[in-house]
Amino acid sequence: MDRILVKQGRIVDPANGRDEIGDLFLSDGKIQKIGGNITEDADVVLDASGKTVMPGLIDLHVHLREPGFEYKETIESGANAAARGGVTTICPMPNTKPVIDSPERVKDLLDRAEGAAVHILPIGAVTLGQEGRELADIRGMKEAGAAALSEDGKSVMDSLLFQKGLLEAAKYKLPMFSHCEDKVLADGGVMNAGKKADELGLPGISNAVEDVIAARDIFLSKEAGNRLHLCHCSTKGSVMLVDMAKKSGLPVTGEVCPHHFTMSDDEISEDDGRFKMNPPLRSREDVQALKEALRDGVMDVISTDHAPHGEEEKNQSMRTAPFGIVGLETSFALSYTELVRTGYLTLSGLIEKMSVNPAKVLGIDGGTLSVGSAADVVIAELDVPYRIDRRKFVSKGKNTPFDGKEVYGKVETTIVDGKIVYQANAD
Ligand code: DOR
Ligand code: ZN
Ligand code: ZN
Repeated sequence: MDRILVKQGRIVDPANGRDEIGDLFLSDGKIQKIGGNITEDADVVLDASGKTVMPGLIDLHVHLREPGFEYKETIESGANAAARGGVTTICPMPNTKPVIDSPERVKDLLDRAEGAAVHILPIGAVTLGQEGRELADIRGMKEAGAAALSEDGKSVMDSLLFQKGLLEAAKYKLPMFSHCEDKVLADGGVMNAGKKADELGLPGISNAVEDVIAARDIFLSKEAGNRLHLCHCSTKGSVMLVDMAKKSGLPVTGEVCPHHFTMSDDEISEDDGRFKMNPPLRSREDVQALKEALRDGVMDVISTDHAPHGEEEKNQSMRTAPFGIVGLETSFALSYTELVRTGYLTLSGLIEKMSVNPAKVLGIDGGTLSVGSAADVVIAELDVPYRIDRRKFVSKGKNTPFDGKEVYGKVETTIVDGKIVYQANAD
């Protein structure tokens, strides 16, 4: 195992209140020493002067497409994309083929993830086949290693069945990750309801499609006593509801994806599938509410909803293209550019949303550079702008509306368990 010495970087470790220039020494997969001038012998010395050293990012919400849709993404390609994005832990959603809905499927996924570039913590489905008819073996999935539960891609529309799922989640201490969407109310919509959808002649998805289920899930969770994490919050209404839940002392957390605070529906220039994701890009007012909610601590987590699809699938009208954009290789830069450079968050505040708080939601160690913790570390260059180039993505999915966008915050080196899994000059 390599001994790595990182020299003279700006070390930002909000969990320990640290933001100062210093060295970091890693060996045996752990952080051994931090701060000041360290003179240990090392196999690899990384000069981090002028750069920033942070705990690895934890992304609670990604879609790897294995098993079943390997042409879109494999566990290996998704993990490599994570490494390139500075993400050292990912939680894949269960909407694969077959669905991850049993202890055997969870174990199979963990077997397949063996040797991947980053840590992979699977999420189990709430119902068998995500069909919304019969509860999955939640206890068995927990014992097999599931980190959370989710029906992502849809909501469990049957409230009684969902209530049973929440009770099991509470019993076996698994957080429930909710995709809030009233499918009936969505009524085949493909983008945010409003002026732009009208102009493009496309069917809309109103804010209420999300808000009514967010409210339902909060109230059901209050009775069930489980921990609730609302995925990809996109509306002002979700912000109000999470705020209300927190003020009532409920264990509810809110997640926002970079695309939802970076782009609004009025920036959709044409009917093009690359602008299509679920929930959709919302109004400027919603975007503003999300940024303020991240600033004010109402929203806790930034995750990507990394959703790779084939080129031909996305190169269509929004009417027919599948929902979803990739995010793992752009999340840190988009978030740093849109939130830190604009003053909504400090860099420490951003690391809390992308690393410290996700670890808390899962109840795992992580999100810290404490001595003795896993050596999951990222080195980034914050001050030199660059353009997002989808051709450089290592994800199989190249579907992003941010191709060509100028951003700050380039991940240069990613280390997982004390091993270098990505270095930018290899690009
Ligand atoms: O945009 C999305 N894509 N939203 C989802 O809820 C599912 C995801 C996917 O699996 O492609
Ligand atoms: Zn979703
Ligand atoms: Zn998703």
